[in-house]
Amino acid sequence: MAGGAVVSTGPIKNYNGGMTTFVFVTCFVAATGGLIFGYDLGISGGVTSMNEFLEKFFPSVYKKMNDGSSKESQYCKFDSELLTSFTSSLYVAALVASFFASAITRVFGRKISILIGGIVFLVGSIVNGLAQNVAMLIIGRLLLGVGVGFGNQSVPVYLSEMAPAKLRGGLNMGFQLAITIGILVANLVNYGTAQMKSNGWRWSLAIAAVPAIIMTVGSLLLPDTPNSLLERGHMEKAKSMLQKVRGTSDVDEEFQDLMDASEQSKLVEHPWRNIIQPRYRPQLVMAILIPFFQQLTGINVIMFYAPVLFKTLGFGDNASLMSAVISGLVNVVATFVSIFSVDKVGRRFLFLQGGIQMIICQIIVGVVIGLKFGINGEGSLSKGYANLVLILICIYVAAFAWSWGPLGWLVPSEIFPLEIRSAGQAINVSVNMFFTFIIAQVFLAMLCHMKFGLFLFFAAWEIVMTIFIYFFLPETKNVPIEEMNRVWKQHWFWSKYIPDEAITGGIQLPAGKTVA
Ligand code: BGC
Repeated sequence: MAGGAVVSTGPIKNYNGGMTTFVFVTCFVAATGGLIFGYDLGISGGVTSMNEFLEKFFPSVYKKMNDGSSKESQYCKFDSELLTSFTSSLYVAALVASFFASAITRVFGRKISILIGGIVFLVGSIVNGLAQNVAMLIIGRLLLGVGVGFGNQSVPVYLSEMAPAKLRGGLNMGFQLAITIGILVANLVNYGTAQMKSNGWRWSLAIAAVPAIIMTVGSLLLPDTPNSLLERGHMEKAKSMLQKVRGTSDVDEEFQDLMDASEQSKLVEHPWRNIIQPRYRPQLVMAILIPFFQQLTGINVIMFYAPVLFKTLGFGDNASLMSAVISGLVNVVATFVSIFSVDKVGRRFLFLQGGIQMIICQIIVGVVIGLKFGINGEGSLSKGYANLVLILICIYVAAFAWSWGPLGWLVPSEIFPLEIRSAGQAINVSVNMFFTFIIAQVFLAMLCHMKFGLFLFFAAWEIVMTIFIYFFLPETKNVPIEEMNRVWKQHWFWSKYIPDEAITGGIQLPAGKTVA
């Protein structure tokens, strides 16, 4: 690749310890934190296409939808500000909450943040299940959002710190797996409750309590990570925890690196002020661009609005929910592909392969819909075309599920040095939530105005992000989390930002501090 000399940084270390029952069980339990996020992502689209729900809370949308004489084009049927604000209020709450979570995660440990996330989400699901008016619906969703903000801020960091370097990718992706299971379960629940005579939507919203309880109880059983114990000054506990997690008493080399990282971390009093220093530039850029790009793949158009989208394409009520179930199943199954391959083929390969697959699918879907509905949005899809679109959407979802989905949570959580890890993850979550919010808020309007061009719009972004990964993301597979600076130091572009002392194994001082 062009530009800059590659600096020799010495070999990447290989610590003792591999998969142990202890690490598997703790990561499994922690990963259930992804369930609440997933359940929520999957439930709102189905609920907002249920007639009884619309009639009760959003009567104007309901009228528009069922008014046979309406001249609305296919693309504009569901365009309602109020309806989208129901879906997207959660993401605003999660965005704000992730900053509070970052302070708690740093000062009190990862475990406490996971616990808080579970409890607040539980309260939100109760308020939503009992909702009598739009205000209660939105308050409930704001609480769910706070829960998601805490969970998404703390769980990926927890997983990346617990896992041995060689298995970090696969173990961290348990989080994404839980997200996809949450989405699928939500789709199934919607499919079931939509058949109920009344109050189906209420059940859909109330059942969010189940993943919340799993996460809350699970978090009570979790130990804190060695990195976080050290960060908070518990040296002995940290060492014995590391021995337990790695399944061997011979952890001296890794423990020394954790100690160095923790010494370094103590010198940084203001992670937020430090994170903007040039030495953290590569990580900061990734923490902003990766979640931004993840949302610009357009995945959540499918996740939130699959039932609406399929209805627009001419599938009937039940067929719409069923199609959402099919794409949900593909989402879960395809995640395993990356769980089992990410620590072998690496992050870059999955990003690039998945990116290309998504580009191809989006372009074909855009063209098919454009040809069939045209600019006016009049017409319908024949059964054959509707099935073709469904298959393409599934291939697209599979690509996302083994690339940008899990990697969007893995990569940011593994690249930050300890002293700014919590803050960095908060940025990742908030950028992710912000763009999830934007997509949720404007998708229906975009579909109405950009029509089939919407799919081409996302394809164009996928081209940009694939090129970005090719040039700017170094491979991080098998690299110990506290050794990550070596990777940046070897990169043709980022090398110049990383000071030499950051990779010597000694303590690096933040700018402005000197040794007396
Ligand atoms: C993304 C979500 C998306 C989900 C789909 C996650 O990684 O952050 O926005 O809905 O994957 O499985």
